[in-house]
Amino acid sequence: MMNKKWWKETVVYQIYPRSFRDSNGDGIGDLRGIIEKLDYLKELGIGVVWLSPVYKSPNDDGGYDISDYQDILSDFGTLADWEVMIAGMHERGIKLLMDLVVNHTSDEHPWFTEARKSKDNPYRDYYIWRPARAVGPDGTGIPEPNNWGSFFSGSAWEYDQKTDEYYLHLFSRKQPDLNWENPRVRSEIWKMMNWWLSKGVDGFRMDVINLISKVAGLPDAPVTDSTTTWQWGGQYFANGPRLLEFLAEMKREVLSRGDVFSVGETPMVTTAEVAQFTSEETGSLNMVFQFEHMDMDTIPGGMGKWDFKRFELRDLKKITSRWQDDLYDKGWNSLYLSNHDQPRPVSRFGDDGLYRVESAKLLGTFLHMLQGTPYVYQGEEIGMTNVKFDTIDDYRDVETMNMYREAVKRGIDPHKIMQAIYTKGRDNARTPIQWDDGPQAGFTSGTPWIKVNPNCTTINVAQSQADPDSIYFYYRKLIQLRKDNPVIVYGKYDLLASVGDPIYAYMRALDNDRLLVILNFSTDQPLFKLPGGITYTGKHLLIGNYPVDADEDINEFTLRPYEARVYRLA
Ligand code: NOJ
Repeated sequence: MMNKKWWKETVVYQIYPRSFRDSNGDGIGDLRGIIEKLDYLKELGIGVVWLSPVYKSPNDDGGYDISDYQDILSDFGTLADWEVMIAGMHERGIKLLMDLVVNHTSDEHPWFTEARKSKDNPYRDYYIWRPARAVGPDGTGIPEPNNWGSFFSGSAWEYDQKTDEYYLHLFSRKQPDLNWENPRVRSEIWKMMNWWLSKGVDGFRMDVINLISKVAGLPDAPVTDSTTTWQWGGQYFANGPRLLEFLAEMKREVLSRGDVFSVGETPMVTTAEVAQFTSEETGSLNMVFQFEHMDMDTIPGGMGKWDFKRFELRDLKKITSRWQDDLYDKGWNSLYLSNHDQPRPVSRFGDDGLYRVESAKLLGTFLHMLQGTPYVYQGEEIGMTNVKFDTIDDYRDVETMNMYREAVKRGIDPHKIMQAIYTKGRDNARTPIQWDDGPQAGFTSGTPWIKVNPNCTTINVAQSQADPDSIYFYYRKLIQLRKDNPVIVYGKYDLLASVGDPIYAYMRALDNDRLLVILNFSTDQPLFKLPGGITYTGKHLLIGNYPVDADEDINEFTLRPYEARVYRLA
């Protein structure tokens, strides 16, 4: 059996602080707001909070553009408030992960303001600078050092007049990439991480950590999209040549000095790479967030993630099963359907209309019964949905706004762009938490920084806590089941491949303990047939989202829309 570890047995809750709870009426969620809700988190049963960035930041990208790694943004409070918050968490047995954003800083970070002063400034080499390229005599070619596109539209290079050079920014132009080749950069980061550990944090979620090592020479990317100059350069910066070395150094200098939880955010990775990152013997991280299931509804094409379709269950089965199988006994999975960058899962993978409650519970069952550490993103536990604001002016996310601007420039119909935003935009997950059905959903007594979802009158925490059949109580049960049943944490996963769509069924087994998970991912009422070879003498329903007759024969039965059941077989 694999090693027992506390971080395998826990459930993590992600807080996006700007939208969680505003304590002082300025319309922005804050640390005092989190402190008010610590008992809520404890009752939910989660063991760890991942706190999205609360550091000083001009807030170009929701705080993922940091101008001081060792201080708190005044919108959120003070370091003294932070101390009260972490103490309150620890008193309740909740650990705290800080968000480590070190692929880039803000352009307002003092390192960058120094760096841009002159080519021989001691901080110049903290970032990635290149002179312009010669444009052809006939005006062909681009002056930018290469043709990489930014994740947030346009070129990944910004021209800086003062020193007549370009700097690299894989994200917004206010997020210059750090130069990890420079050992001084790395030692500054280790020092900063150790400082937070000395203040009692329990670990880190590491923003796009597999993008930190770029291929030398920064070559042009092949043209995969002929409608634009700016191309996808992932092969030159994802899982780059020195990544493992940098992570090993981080392990040596920081992570191995205590019992530090580490989860990397790693787009564009294979299971083999993740087995390497998360191997308990030779890897450096506990687990990572992979993105394959997040890309299931993307149609490869010009607008990247904005070209979308409805996901297909067979893709979810294939992808999930591969990650479950390939990492078994080799590494460890993070389990997530939701975070601050993704649309709301009930809208995306379930049904946010008639079957909102059933499908939210089904998705929770699917995720929490897998092997790995589950993540619950704020609001998921009450089945919050996507939002449709009438105009682009109501949106706040830099990625969304840049895409809108570029798409309009390219002549795409604004109505079509809004549909893409309604389906894939990050602000779907960033509307304020709906605490009650009062003004501004009980999030703030002022004017919120982004509008609340009008469905707060029916979908809110107060309602969920008053209804014993709510998604909220179902999540509490899922979280508790993981604590009580080692098979959920350590059991081997086995897809029941012969069970056809729209049903997703799998087994979990640990020694003689066996769980059977049956999920109907549709509004249909398909017939479930237990595959031959699975025998049992008794059965017990651990959890399900409909009333079930205890005597029902499960060799063959009809599932109701979005029905989920988990049986223990004897
Ligand atoms: C991933 C973060 O989750 C996202 O919110 C951010 O925009 C990018 N990394 C850049 O930091």
